Amino acid sequence: MDKVLIIGISGLLGSRAYEVGKNKYEIFGTYKEHKIEEENFFALDVTQRKDVFNLIEKLKPDLVIDTHALHNVDYCETHPEEAWLINVDGTRNVAEACKRVGCKMVFISTDYVFDGEKLKYTEKDKPRPLNYYAKTKLIAERILDALDVNYIVARTAVLYGKGGMGKLNFVLWTIQKLKNGEKIKIVTDQHNNPTFADNLAEILFALYEKDAKGIFHVVGEDCLSRFEFALKIAKIFDLDSSLIEPITTPELNQIALRPRKVDLITEKVKRVTGIKPFGAEEGLMILKKQLGE
Ligand SMILES: NC(=O)c1ccc[n+]([C@@H]2O[C@H](COP(=O)([O-])OP(=O)(O)OC[C@H]3O[C@@H](n4cnc5c(N)ncnc54)[C@H](OP(=O)(O)O)[C@@H]3O)[C@@H](O)[C@H]2O)c1
Repeated sequence: MDKVLIIGISGLLGSRAYEVGKNKYEIFGTYKEHKIEEENFFALDVTQRKDVFNLIEKLKPDLVIDTHALHNVDYCETHPEEAWLINVDGTRNVAEACKRVGCKMVFISTDYVFDGEKLKYTEKDKPRPLNYYAKTKLIAERILDALDVNYIVARTAVLYGKGGMGKLNFVLWTIQKLKNGEKIKIVTDQHNNPTFADNLAEILFALYEKDAKGIFHVVGEDCLSRFEFALKIAKIFDLDSSLIEPITTPELNQIALRPRKVDLITEKVKRVTGIKPFGAEEGLMILKKQLGE
């Protein structure tokens, strides 16, 4: 059984990767703020270089899936030093430790590395991040390349799913608000590919099994505005869609700039893994079953 270390097993993607991989791999995990009492789970702050090396040298995993990040986009814009420390220095620590023990590393990046002007993007397109969060992710991607680590970068978007220690992702937040009968204002002019975390996890393991290397776009098949996605959530979960009010980005007063429309092309990952990522309705239907609705 291959040994897999999931950094951020208390997060959304980390917890789903654990569920998807636990019968096939020997899984170890780390958390930072959200402690989980499990034999193979450990506290880790990736900014503590010595701790990162100690853990990875002790476990000697075959694969490290690094899901950690400071990914509140507006917070990163106003706290650039903290964002750099966690997203750049923290990733470098993990990458160098992976290199030391000779294991593969999966790093999770973002569709926000693009500016949204071209609309559809392959892995060959030139990134131009509009905000500081995305800049730190792009720099981390480049560090992996410069270090010549055996890496997979998966660029993803708008993750949703069950899990993450009660933290609300967009889908769970929308369901909660609509169930409470609260009105929500959702933007019509920001488009991305919502991605079911379980599906992303399954594809990450498939990429590992194929010994894939380099950058991959791994997102859901449908590129939707947040407003369109919220309407789909209401439809699948039988909730009142009239509570969803359309607004535009300028009305939101967000601190960090976001690209208008980024549709990541997934042909490369489909070719390499043979897996077609889920469309939004498919992912939401499975989530509905998992939530017992
Ligand atoms: N969510 C999205 O829509 C989205 C979109 C594009 C890309 N991504 C990327 O996908 C990845 C996974 O996202 P997610 O939604 O699963 O994130 P998440 O739910 O916030 O989970 C992040 C995980 O990282 C851990 N962590 C945070 N800071 C850490 C540090 N300094 N040292 C060690 N661990 C730390 C957290 O631990 P504790 O909770 O225990 O503190 C948590 O387990 C991230 O890299 C993110 O940038 C996410």
